[in-house]
Amino acid sequence: MRILGVHAGHDAAAALVVDGEVVADAAEERFQRVKHAQGIPFHAIGWCLEDAKCPALELDAVAIVDGVDEVVQVLDPGVVPLRHPPFDLRRFAVGRQTEVVHVEHHVAHAASAYLTSGFAGRTLVVTCDGVGDDVSISLWRGDEGVLTPLASLDASASLGWFYEAVTEALGWWSWDGAGRTMGLAAYGDPERAAGALDTFCPHFEAGELRRGVPELGRRSGVAFQGQEHIHFELAHAIRLQLARCGREHLAAEAQRLLETELQALVLPWLEREGTRQLACAGGVFLNVKLNQSLWETAGLAAQHIYPNSGDAGLAVGAALYAHHQHAPSAPNRRLRNMRLGPEHPPALLRERLELCGVTYDEVDDPAETAARLLARGGILGWFQGRMESGPRALGGRSILMSPTDPKAKDTLNARVKFREGFRPFCPSMTAEARERYLPGSRPEPFMVTSFPVAEDRRNRIPAVVHVDGTARPQTVEREIDPLYWRLIDLLGRETGEPVVLNTSFNVRGEPIANDPLDAIRCFYSGGMDHLMLGPFLVSKDGARG
Ligand SMILES: [Fe+2]
Repeated sequence: MRILGVHAGHDAAAALVVDGEVVADAAEERFQRVKHAQGIPFHAIGWCLEDAKCPALELDAVAIVDGVDEVVQVLDPGVVPLRHPPFDLRRFAVGRQTEVVHVEHHVAHAASAYLTSGFAGRTLVVTCDGVGDDVSISLWRGDEGVLTPLASLDASASLGWFYEAVTEALGWWSWDGAGRTMGLAAYGDPERAAGALDTFCPHFEAGELRRGVPELGRRSGVAFQGQEHIHFELAHAIRLQLARCGREHLAAEAQRLLETELQALVLPWLEREGTRQLACAGGVFLNVKLNQSLWETAGLAAQHIYPNSGDAGLAVGAALYAHHQHAPSAPNRRLRNMRLGPEHPPALLRERLELCGVTYDEVDDPAETAARLLARGGILGWFQGRMESGPRALGGRSILMSPTDPKAKDTLNARVKFREGFRPFCPSMTAEARERYLPGSRPEPFMVTSFPVAEDRRNRIPAVVHVDGTARPQTVEREIDPLYWRLIDLLGRETGEPVVLNTSFNVRGEPIANDPLDAIRCFYSGGMDHLMLGPFLVSKDGARG
């Protein structure tokens, strides 16, 4: 059973699910090199089918979320009647047996959360985003692989739009700005902005929406380079509060409201459903502090946040949902690896380096070489194996540095990432070391939530500890990613800390590198010292490490 999932809204993406397993997934932005690219993801579709050696003709189904009309235009006219076929767009001739189905936005989010959780027994599934198909929040019962709707709320309940409106009021754009608001919030005191945002935020009590904010449903704005300002009116109104209370305090209050309102919605539903298992998706759950707060307040036995929980994860959700519609008794498998994107063989890596006229060495042991360079203070581009799905670099397309130097964060910001100094960097650590740094945490291979760092460890890895004493970890398991695990383990032998600072391999404002050429370009447009492209090492003159 081969099902192609396609999402053609912002963060367009395609994914292929074969017999219930996600075998390929990539966002269109990685190919077009425009963040959050929207429209028909024809590069991503083409790549998925080629990678899995699955001709479109053999697909059993295409499951489409947003943009059904657009996507249908690139499918075979023999199956789907075409009104105005695009002349110069790549097309995919699907077979007569290929079913074309529409999966609603929040159904796809819910499926991406539940059907990758691997949870047995009853599970509360929560989706929360800006708005999709007129829904901003939905709650589901997941049981025996089947999703049953419990409640759904319209745009007036949109905690996602509330947070984005505050983000725009702070002077940032929707989509990427929310992470800045969250980073800044840790520096503020919500008490100093008490009441400032009450009229803008939906209010929940006892699992129900008590007061919606109709203005959240009104959108007006502009788009620029994949980012958007979509809440002009609300953002202007919120901005008036800034002079009174200050940026970091307003951000802190927005974060506090997001956490407390979602708790007021979710906790009673856990009670009602009699479960301590929670699975979440939707862009709001990219907020790791929110996820931490649910873990700390809800008495959960298990929490699963789909790592690609923004709209780029809808393609996977739609395809998994369609699969389970066809095979209701199919197992609910836990997704253990997000490295689902393109991989480039060494011959192609070499070809790209030769094309650019770059001097390089081939090394026998990339992990050992990288660990040595990092231990000596180098900033290293690490391009290995398959690209990650989702917004976090997980050791496939990463920029790495040893986190033991207190100045590492400033160095990286000044030389490579060119971003605000208040935003934290995150650690990858061996699964074996987790308990030492993050006591009482749980294995988290995808950087989806944060945990408090043990007090006696904070000054040992200062570059990856946020100002509030937490870190957003990737715990790396040896059998899932042996190469990356070994790099971290070897670094630990040199520095005493089996932890590496891991940030995404991209130029500011661009998507994560996909092709080796993206990585080479990124390497030479900033202050990285070394690039480990598969087995090939490129070092700059005067590089550290
Ligand atoms: Fe969404």
